[in-house]
Amino acid sequence: MDPAARTVFHPGDEGVNAYRLLTALVVPRPIAWVSTVSAEGRGNLAPHSFFTVASGRPPVVLFSTLGRKDTVRNVEYTGEFVINFSSEAMLEMVNASSAPFEHGDDEAELLEIHMEDSATVAPQRVAESPASIECLLERIVEVGSAYVVFGTVTAITVRDDVLVDGHPAMEHLRPVSRLGGDEWGRPPDVFHLTRPSKPDDVL
Ligand SMILES: Cc1cc2nc3c(=O)[nH]c(=O)nc-3n(C[C@H](O)[C@H](O)[C@H](O)COP(=O)(O)O)c2cc1C
Repeated sequence: MDPAARTVFHPGDEGVNAYRLLTALVVPRPIAWVSTVSAEGRGNLAPHSFFTVASGRPPVVLFSTLGRKDTVRNVEYTGEFVINFSSEAMLEMVNASSAPFEHGDDEAELLEIHMEDSATVAPQRVAESPASIECLLERIVEVGSAYVVFGTVTAITVRDDVLVDGHPAMEHLRPVSRLGGDEWGRPPDVFHLTRPSKPDDVL
């Protein structure tokens, strides 16, 4: 095959599935395991891999819900959510919690995932998860049929056994990630590389 040959896909063209292409190319994606509480006070737990840090100062994270799912409805109503860290040890649970349960069903209760009180918000955190990020709703931006949820971080809770010198360490966190289709990624190889501080460092 000619290594310079390219196929150009235009979103909107017949047979082009931009979502499938994008989710295959924007990889690996960390998985926010989002816990919320409904207007009726029921817990809800669902994974979201359209997830990143939006701002460092103030600390703001975002995730995107494709359609008006229970997670986004709960955040709209209560203004609070918790992002639980998705470790390799919990990947079956993370995946199971994505099943299309009925509105009002508590995934954690049904799947026997243990929850415990968070430090600053009402939604509980996953007890088995090594870290959680508690958030107050900052804003929701509608993009097409998606709801991009921004949350200001009110607390970051990290289990002491994943801290090395007071900092969360990859070798203990062991994150799983989402790739294209139904592919998942295991914890990556980690290496260190110093970032250039001036152009002379790389020229
Ligand atoms: C690993 C993984 C990542 C997912 N990421 C997203 C996502 O970023 N956005 C989304 O809308 N759905 C995502 N889903 C699907 C939702 O988890 C699923 O639709 C879930 O039922 C939504 O729950 P809810 O209705 O309680 O909010 C993902 C599923 C899995 C297994």
